[in-house]
Amino acid sequence: MKKETVDLKNVKYYIRTFGCQMNENDSERIAGILASEGAKPSRSLEESDLIIINTCAVREKSEEKLYSFLGRLTSLKKRKKVTIGVVGCVAQLYDSEIFEKKPFVDFIMGPDNYGKLSEIVHSNQEEKISSTSWSQDFHDFPSEKIFRESKISAYVTIMEGCNNFCSYCIVPFTRGREKFRPLQNILQEVREVAQKGFKEVQLLGQNVNSYRDTESKKGFSFLLKEVNSIGGIEWFRFITSHPKNFTLDIAEAMSEAENVCHQLHLPIQSGSTSVLKRMNRSYTREDYLEKICMLRNLMPDINLSTDIIVGFPGETEEEFKDTLSMLEEVRFTNIFSFRYSSRPRTAASRQKNAVPFEEKKKRLIQVQALQKEIQRNFNTSLIGKTMKILCMGKSKKDTQVYSGRNEGYQVVNFKSRDNVIGRFVDVRITSCGPYSLIGEAS
Ligand code: SAH
Ligand code: SF4
Ligand code: F3S
Repeated sequence: MKKETVDLKNVKYYIRTFGCQMNENDSERIAGILASEGAKPSRSLEESDLIIINTCAVREKSEEKLYSFLGRLTSLKKRKKVTIGVVGCVAQLYDSEIFEKKPFVDFIMGPDNYGKLSEIVHSNQEEKISSTSWSQDFHDFPSEKIFRESKISAYVTIMEGCNNFCSYCIVPFTRGREKFRPLQNILQEVREVAQKGFKEVQLLGQNVNSYRDTESKKGFSFLLKEVNSIGGIEWFRFITSHPKNFTLDIAEAMSEAENVCHQLHLPIQSGSTSVLKRMNRSYTREDYLEKICMLRNLMPDINLSTDIIVGFPGETEEEFKDTLSMLEEVRFTNIFSFRYSSRPRTAASRQKNAVPFEEKKKRLIQVQALQKEIQRNFNTSLIGKTMKILCMGKSKKDTQVYSGRNEGYQVVNFKSRDNVIGRFVDVRITSCGPYSLIGEAS
């Protein structure tokens, strides 16, 4: 049944985003579509006509966030006319099962379907709609329409999807196979944000290192050189890299391109070669260490961060210790660590040798305690140094204090006489904690 399309003019919308930077960027696109049709952002759920929840499925806990948020909307939906849409990775995965669990949800949309948003948001809400089809090509979006959250740092998506099928990971089932955005469109978007005065660009993709331009077939190192020469953007970063695709030419491009930060997030997941094999990561502990060596030879000042999973099925005490020793060996600036969470459809979810919850919890605490010490030591070594900071705003805790990041992507809170939001400023580090640096603008 064909229904009349809603007039989005004067509709107040609210978007709640869970998950990774790509979801944040997708929400900025969704907001752009709504705003271009006259809808206005609303500050509270209470005054919204349209609520969109952009979801993450990467761990069980991420998925639960959707249901606890929907729980909050139950009474609102009873009280007033409001359209509720669930989009993103949970939507793609479970499709109309979400309607069965939460009948008050009006529409469901997967990541490849955002172009159909205005068609889907209907005035007449009698029929529920789900749109979770896959697309073979990268779904481009006019970048000038993106409704960006920050006016300082811009996300630019360069590819979407993943072909790796790490045995624990749900992403290939939510984002589909790799799709690359044409290089010319990426360069166009970077030029545009540079003209608008953005200072930093973060290139996004589930596996950016495997990037290939759809026309020229040129790879990620070429892309880095091209964006670097645009001018206007002082800091480029990119996320996420995969150790197996992180090759010498990329490291060289990073070290030669003056506007590409000497900072890299390179997820290792485990320090044990046998666990890495069971995870289907396609590299060994030694391969990873070689890459780190290559990076540090080219860029001695590089800041490295990583992701760690503890308690992967069958992970022995011995194997876990290899992860601890890896942290000591590499001395990352920052890590993101997680307890293994079994995800539907993944190969690891069919394994029977689960690590007990209490053991996973214990291992996570151990990882985090060790890393805390490494970070405290590293941060202490920075006291007295002056570094360039991009100021992102005021600190959340203290409005007298500004907050920003250094080239290594560490959080720096600092005092300044002038308002320096959106600017680069030299800050002298005076003290630190394990998770942030404290300083004064010079
Ligand atoms: N390459 C991806 C990684 C996404 S998931 C991207 O950035 O798009 C981010 C991290 O979540 C992974 O690196 C991994 O450490 C963790 N993760 C993924 N699946 C997980 C699972 N089933 N249990 C616990 N952690 C998981
Ligand atoms: Fe998931 Fe592995 Fe792909 Fe990253 S590389 S999205 S962890 S399957
Ligand atoms: Fe989560 Fe989907 Fe990103 S599962 S991590 S929102 S790709």
